[in-house]
Amino acid sequence: MNTKASSSSVLVVAVAWFVLVTTALEASLAGEAEALLQWKSSLQTQSLSSWSPNQTKCLWVGISCNDAGSVTQIKLPNAPLHGKLVNFNFSSFPNLTHINLSSSNLSGDIPALLGTLSKLTFLDLSMNQLSGAIPQEICNLTNLAELWMPDNLLMGPIPSNIKNLIHLTHLMLSNNQVSGTIPEEVGMLETLTQLSLYINRLVGKVPPSLGNLTNLQGLYLDFNELSGPIPKEIGSLINLVELGMPKNHLVGSIPSGIGNLTNLTSLYLYGNNLSGSIPGFLSFLLFSSLQHFQQDNHSPF
Ligand SMILES: *[C@@H]1O[C@H](CO)[C@@H](O)[C@H](O)[C@H]1NC(C)=O
Ligand SMILES: *[C@@H]1O[C@H](CO)[C@@H](O)[C@H](O)[C@H]1NC(C)=O
Ligand SMILES: *[C@@H]1O[C@H](CO)[C@@H](O)[C@H](O)[C@H]1NC(C)=O
Ligand SMILES: *[C@@H]1O[C@H](CO)[C@@H](O)[C@H](O)[C@H]1NC(C)=O
Ligand SMILES: *[C@@H]1O[C@H](CO)[C@@H](O)[C@H](O)[C@H]1NC(C)=O
Ligand SMILES: *[C@@H]1O[C@H](CO)[C@@H](O)[C@H](O)[C@H]1NC(C)=O
Ligand SMILES: *[C@@H]1O[C@H](CO)[C@@H](O)[C@H](O)[C@H]1NC(C)=O
Ligand SMILES: *[C@@H]1O[C@H](CO)[C@@H](O)[C@H](O)[C@H]1NC(C)=O
Ligand SMILES: *[C@@H]1O[C@H](CO)[C@@H](O)[C@H](O)[C@H]1NC(C)=O
Ligand SMILES: *[C@@H]1O[C@H](CO)[C@@H](O)[C@H](O)[C@H]1NC(C)=O
Repeated sequence: MNTKASSSSVLVVAVAWFVLVTTALEASLAGEAEALLQWKSSLQTQSLSSWSPNQTKCLWVGISCNDAGSVTQIKLPNAPLHGKLVNFNFSSFPNLTHINLSSSNLSGDIPALLGTLSKLTFLDLSMNQLSGAIPQEICNLTNLAELWMPDNLLMGPIPSNIKNLIHLTHLMLSNNQVSGTIPEEVGMLETLTQLSLYINRLVGKVPPSLGNLTNLQGLYLDFNELSGPIPKEIGSLINLVELGMPKNHLVGSIPSGIGNLTNLTSLYLYGNNLSGSIPGFLSFLLFSSLQHFQQDNHSPF
C-alpha cells in the first residue's frame, strides 16, 4: 500500500471537511447579521446606526454574542423601532437566550416563528402595540423563565400548552384583551412566582389548580369577568405577598385559609359579590403583616 498516497488523501479529506465546516459556520453567522439588517431595513428608525455591515454584529447596539460570535441577546428596550416582528427572521438565531424589546413601538402580530428560539429564557415584549393571538408556538420555548407581554393589544386565549413551560417564574400578560378561561394547566407551572393577568377579558372560574403554585408571591387577576367562588386552595399559597382579584364577579365567602398566608401584605377583593362577614383571622393579619385590604369600594375594611 502506498502510504504517501493514503496520507495525502487523508489530508484532502481533512481540508475538504474543514472548508465545509467553516463555510457552514460562516454562512450561519452571516445569516444572523443578514437577518438583523433585513429587519432593520423594515423599521422606521434612526436609532440603529451602528447596525452596519462595516463592523461585526457583536458590536452593534443592543446585540450580545457568545465566544463563537453567535448572537445570544437582543436588548433594545425603549428604542423607538416603529416596526413589526413579522419581518424578523427568528429561525436564524439558534443561540438567542434574551430578548428585551419593551417599549419599542412594535405593532402587528407575534409571529409563530418565535417558537424556533429553543434556548430562549427571557422574552420581554411589554408596552408595545402588538396585536392578534398569543401564538401556540410560544409553548415550544421550554427553557423560558420569564414571559413579559403586558400592555399590548393581544387577544384570544392563553394556550393550554403553556404547561410545557416548566421553568417559567413570570407569566405577565396584564392589560391586553386576552379572553377565554384561565387554563387549569397554569396550575402545573410549579416554578411560577408571579402570575399577572389583570385587565383582560378572562371568564369562568378561578381554577382550584392555582393552589399548586406554592412558590407564587404575586397573583393578580383584577378587572376581568371571573365568576364563581374564590377556591379554598388559594389558602395553600404560603409564599403569597400580594393577592388581587378586585372587579370580577366572584361570589361566596372569603376562604378562611387566606388567614394562614402569613407573608400576605396586600389583599384586594373589592368590586365582587362576596358575601358573609370578614373572617376574624383578618383582624390578626391586619395587625401583623397585612397593610392593604379592600373588600369594597367604600370601606377599606
Ligand atoms: C460604519 O457605517 C456607519 C454608517 O453606516 C458609520 O456611521 C460608521 O461611522 C461606520 N463605522 C466604521 C468603523 O467605519
Ligand atoms: C451557537 O453557539 C455555539 C457555541 O456555543 C457555536 O458552536 C454555534 O456555531 C453557534 N451557532 C450559530 C448558528 O452560530
Ligand atoms: C430565515 O433564516 C433561515 C435560516 O437562516 C433561512 O433558511 C431562511 O431562508 C430565512 N428566511 C427568509 C425569509 O429570509
Ligand atoms: C427590559 O428592559 C427594561 C428597561 O431597561 C427593564 O425595565 C426590564 O426589567 C427588562 N426586562 C426583563 C425581563 O429583564
Ligand atoms: C409609537 O409610534 C407612533 C407613530 O408611529 C406614535 O404616535 C406613538 O406615540 C408611539 N408610541 C410610543 C409608546 O412611543
Ligand atoms: C414546535 O414543536 C412542535 C413539536 O415539538 C414542532 O412540530 C413544531 O415545528 C415546533 N414549532 C416551531 C415554530 O418551532
Ligand atoms: C393541582 O391541583 C389540582 C386541583 O387542586 C389537583 O387535582 C392536581 O392533582 C394538582 N396537580 C399537581 C401537578 O400537583
Ligand atoms: C415569607 O417571607 C420570608 C421573608 O421574606 C421568607 O423567608 C419566607 O420564606 C416566606 N415564606 C413563608 C412561607 O414564610
Ligand atoms: C351581584 O349580584 C347581584 C344579584 O345577584 C347582581 O345584580 C349584580 O350584578 C352582581 N354584581 C356583580 C359585580 O357581579
Ligand atoms: C391553617 O394552618 C393550620 C396550621 O398549619 C391548619 O391546622 C389549618 O387547617 C389551616 N387552615 C386552613 C383553613 O387551611
